[in-house]
Amino acid sequence: MKTLLANLTGAYGPSGREEAVRDVIRQEIRDYADEIREDTMGNLIAVKKGRDAKGKKVMLAAHMDQIGLIVTNIDENGFLRFSNIGGVSPFNVIHRRVVFQNGTTGVVSYETELEDIKNLKLNKMYIDIGAADREEAGKQVRIGDVAVYHAPLTEAGNRFIGCAMDDRAGCAVLVETIKAIKDSPNELVFVFTVQEEVGLRGAKTSAYSLNPDIGISVDVTLTGDTPKSRPMAVNLGDGPTVKVKDSSIICHPKVKNLMIQRAEEAGIPYQLEVLEAGGTDSGAIHLSREGVPSGVISIPCRYVHSAHEMVDKSDMENAVRLLTGILEKDISL
Ligand code: CO
Ligand code: ZN
Repeated sequence: MKTLLANLTGAYGPSGREEAVRDVIRQEIRDYADEIREDTMGNLIAVKKGRDAKGKKVMLAAHMDQIGLIVTNIDENGFLRFSNIGGVSPFNVIHRRVVFQNGTTGVVSYETELEDIKNLKLNKMYIDIGAADREEAGKQVRIGDVAVYHAPLTEAGNRFIGCAMDDRAGCAVLVETIKAIKDSPNELVFVFTVQEEVGLRGAKTSAYSLNPDIGISVDVTLTGDTPKSRPMAVNLGDGPTVKVKDSSIICHPKVKNLMIQRAEEAGIPYQLEVLEAGGTDSGAIHLSREGVPSGVISIPCRYVHSAHEMVDKSDMENAVRLLTGILEKDISL
């Protein structure tokens, strides 16, 4: 899991520029899927055929994209002004190292004459790529180029720290699940989606095209286990979560209950999750066509959307076990 996660989190892939992540995944799963294709939007779709014609068609989704900083202007001194791709908070990016697709690196800072730093907005910030002036900067970066955090994966105890765990941790779980599943009565369609961070866009089009019987997405969620954090009944290391609700979906009770039942049968630790703000791919999947019964399995993650997101190894392993347990058996809703 470590090498896979290092490769996935090290791949450049802000929303709309997921090519490098897609290449890593395609390489990993090519011997485990019956069919692999890429759709118009760039979603990577891997099909594992079911042995039973009456089996369900299950869409599994994890998003490949990560948040980023998009260049809006280059000033005469070579500083880059930027806007956000997805949920970028000023405080998460202050003095972070960032990298562009072509390898250009820089550091993010802000206008220090600002009186009250609490009012800091992205439009008072800039990326310094070490250029002397606009002309020199323009040789490395153009308007519309996107930078992402530069933060190689590291281990701390039983945890991984790295950027883009949201949602490369989910991609890693799906990759390991494809490899773990020997045989299933169900037709399993693994979709590594694009553009989740800007509004669940890849999940929307792929769900329409696939028209699945059930949708399950795998993403990270917040925790309530750090000092004086906002209360939330999710702890790192206590197991993957079975989502009940977030801002994008109220999970279908039958899908939620199926997840709980399989976890309890197999003795897999799990937690129930209510995420007060935030959404994920199932938010788009469940509203496709006339509606698709959908749920979410989440990986607890601290410091989401920062350069150093932390997940627990056992939560990822148990997410693979839980998904495998669900997918290898008959599903009746
Ligand atoms: Co996110
Ligand atoms: Zn996510």
